[in-house]
Amino acid sequence: MILQNLGVAITGSGSALPANCLDNETLSKLVDTSDEWIASRTGIRQRRLANSSQSVSEIASIAAKDAIAMAGISPLDIDLIILATSTADDLFGSACQIQTQIGATNAVAFDLTAACSGFVFGLVTAAQFIRTGVYQNVVLIGGDILSRWVDWQDRSTCVLFGDGAGAVVIQATESDRLLGFEIRSDGTQNNCLNLSYSPESQPLTPGIEVGKGNFKPITMNGKEVYRFAVQRVPEVIDKALFRANITTEQVDWLILHQANQRILDAVAQRLNIPSHKVISNLASYGNTSAASIPIALDEAVRNGQIKTGDTIVASGFGAGLTWGAAIFKWGI
Ligand code: UT7
Repeated sequence: MILQNLGVAITGSGSALPANCLDNETLSKLVDTSDEWIASRTGIRQRRLANSSQSVSEIASIAAKDAIAMAGISPLDIDLIILATSTADDLFGSACQIQTQIGATNAVAFDLTAACSGFVFGLVTAAQFIRTGVYQNVVLIGGDILSRWVDWQDRSTCVLFGDGAGAVVIQATESDRLLGFEIRSDGTQNNCLNLSYSPESQPLTPGIEVGKGNFKPITMNGKEVYRFAVQRVPEVIDKALFRANITTEQVDWLILHQANQRILDAVAQRLNIPSHKVISNLASYGNTSAASIPIALDEAVRNGQIKTGDTIVASGFGAGLTWGAAIFKWGI
């Protein structure tokens, strides 16, 4: 059997943001902070927040539908749905709910957790299914509602995060548009960034006690994560560029996980990528975790910045610790 169409292309994008908007000025009435501190240390001016009845699957489905429409295919054509999230509505996973909400009845669906690296890890995972000839049409969504897991009294974390979802359609093509990638993890630094189970004992019998489901709010060693990002992200991008056999001069757009404008600037500087090639929407949305890269990608495609054939470097980094980069040309 001759296998054809084992190339990978990203052919559609979509995104969805909750309507509620919290700006720095209003936030500084809730915790001891200021617009000046947040904007100068992070670049963030406001963030979108889901209300208590909104779900990750709801915003992810809106983003997925828009991506499918842009790709010009039917939901019935979708073979695989991957939801990259750390904040599923259900610990058993939320991807199957998306499958139902978008009417992708022929697809298999599962969640993938790699925190803020989730989109890049999901892209690499999707590519493996396509390159082995198993699937032709994949929807990858990065979606997170971190606002419900943040301690809104903790100014060191609550000012950073926002909610949202971004999606892409990844298709099998003759010519391969995914030029290179590299993904990494380092569990020795796991305690730098956590949203972890909070052990609480539940006695069952005199000899047996079990835990009771609960999570602690996000904790982060900001300085360590910052140091990790500015060192590891340029390294992993260099590796992916090497695999793609291209130089930084050939890169049209750098889309980093939107964690901090200072990280974006430092990474671009280390790679010698000029600032006009760096896509940033931090000011509007803050850090939306797995959603940040696909939201930035979708906005740049829809506003005409990114054009068919442009070479994009996408790089995610975060809890795990995990990090990774993928180099691809937009569209077919
Ligand atoms: O998505 C996952 C990836 N996450 C990241 O990439 C985050 C990486 N880390 C960062 O972006 C930065 O470390 C932060 C933005 C989190 C913090 O910036 P920083 O420049 O490292 O500040 P810092 O933690 O060193 O704090 C400096 C000062 C401290 O006060 P003192 O000890 O100097 O008196 C903090 O208490 O700023 C204080 N501070 C604040 N002040 C006003 C911390 N948070 C705030 C705040 N408002 N929200």
